[in-house]
Amino acid sequence: MASPCFDLLIEGGTVIDGTKAPRFDADIGIVAGRIAAIGALSGQEAAQRIDARGRIVAPGFIDAHTHDDLAVLRQPDMDFKVSQGVTTVVSGNCGISPAPLEADTPTPQPISLAVGDDSLRFASFAAYVAAMRRAPAALNVAPLLGHTTLRARCVADLQRAAMPAEIEAMRAHVQEALDAGAIGVSTGTYYPPAAAATTEEIIEVCRPLSGSGGVYATHMRDEQDAVLQSLDETFRIGRELGVPVVVSHHKVTGTANWGRSVETLARIGAAMQCQCVALDCYPYTAGSTMLHNDPVRLQGRVLIAHSEPQPKMAGRELDDIAREWGCDKLEAVRRLQPASAIYFMMDEADVQRILAYEHTMIGSDGIPLGERPHPRLWGTFPRVLGHYSRTLNLFPLETAVWKMTGLTARNFGLEGRGTLAEGAAADIVVFDADSVIDTATYDDPQRAAAGIEQVLVAGVPVWQQGRPTGARPGQVLRRRTAPQP
Ligand code: ZN
Ligand code: CU
Repeated sequence: MASPCFDLLIEGGTVIDGTKAPRFDADIGIVAGRIAAIGALSGQEAAQRIDARGRIVAPGFIDAHTHDDLAVLRQPDMDFKVSQGVTTVVSGNCGISPAPLEADTPTPQPISLAVGDDSLRFASFAAYVAAMRRAPAALNVAPLLGHTTLRARCVADLQRAAMPAEIEAMRAHVQEALDAGAIGVSTGTYYPPAAAATTEEIIEVCRPLSGSGGVYATHMRDEQDAVLQSLDETFRIGRELGVPVVVSHHKVTGTANWGRSVETLARIGAAMQCQCVALDCYPYTAGSTMLHNDPVRLQGRVLIAHSEPQPKMAGRELDDIAREWGCDKLEAVRRLQPASAIYFMMDEADVQRILAYEHTMIGSDGIPLGERPHPRLWGTFPRVLGHYSRTLNLFPLETAVWKMTGLTARNFGLEGRGTLAEGAAADIVVFDADSVIDTATYDDPQRAAAGIEQVLVAGVPVWQQGRPTGARPGQVLRRRTAPQP
């Protein structure tokens, strides 16, 4: 008996290949975790077959912005992501990564959001990457190194800019992380532990990025009144280092700034004329992060997502809790800490304008913590496909897919991912274009999306019939070796 031609054959589907090209009907044959052939293959032998008639077959989605650094080790099935069709997560965002941290390194918020109960720490980036390789998750990880984590590790007083010796120590960690496989460095100067870092500190710490093929990703200092200055700072860092920059979860917050995405996108477009700039966005008008102590950051509706000392308060409004406790908001915040919250702070028109912008990638910014996370953790990708593309017709499905696959792989330098082509890794999602939709809500956020039928990582099914399969074929992805032209 002849041995089968393919390990797996996906038959009869409509291919959206992740390049923005129009869809076409084709079968996909997989051998040894890679796409071996795309075309009319149904006469051929295969060890296994997936019937994709009436369905879209697309590259597995790449989540451009996550905090899944430890989730991939603690919850390796990663159901909240693979259920959306995500096959790769970019981790280590907003300046926060779980390495390098010593056992006694203090982890002020927001680092503790990602690091959790401190039981899992890695003194070097190499140790973190080794742990992921030893115990793979269902999906792939492309990890960034966080500058705020470096500050916690190397800077004696987080309220000031780093001294020359501290900068040198952080720079050595950047080099170590890049050698160990980090795809770049992230910053989060928006947050207290990094707010005192100057532009010069960041440039000097990130020197090893130059020529490494890595990227600079940033949760900018200000997404409110000074958002344009923050963009300019980001572009300057990118130019001085000669590296591509990623503006994380781009938004304009504060009612006075609503509508200003017209200006910010124009500024981004202008910068793109002379340097590599990328941006990502999540499809919601509320954000989520640590519970702020600053009253300016507590304006508007604030929903508690997670509180360590007061777990029952998850899902409740901060105003309500303060009323029930008979105290003011700041006192309530003090009693809830450490905690995370959901902030309703954006305008739907800005969200749509940024999502629809030609160069915007999709990133969830989900925080896998507690019982009441922001629904973006489970809903981001199907929401873009079902709500923004199909229902609101903001862009064609081919564009939606590109924003979560080919564009993202290119911007982060993830070779052989993000498009369906012969020789590419067989990271694939099969979904129903008519029914795909998010079901996670602010009230009930831990719900798997509808319409995502099959998810394969390196040719191995990880999500089928609404369930994780238990397979863990994920890899730690490497960045491109040459800098982007
Ligand atoms: Zn952020
Ligand atoms: Cu983030």
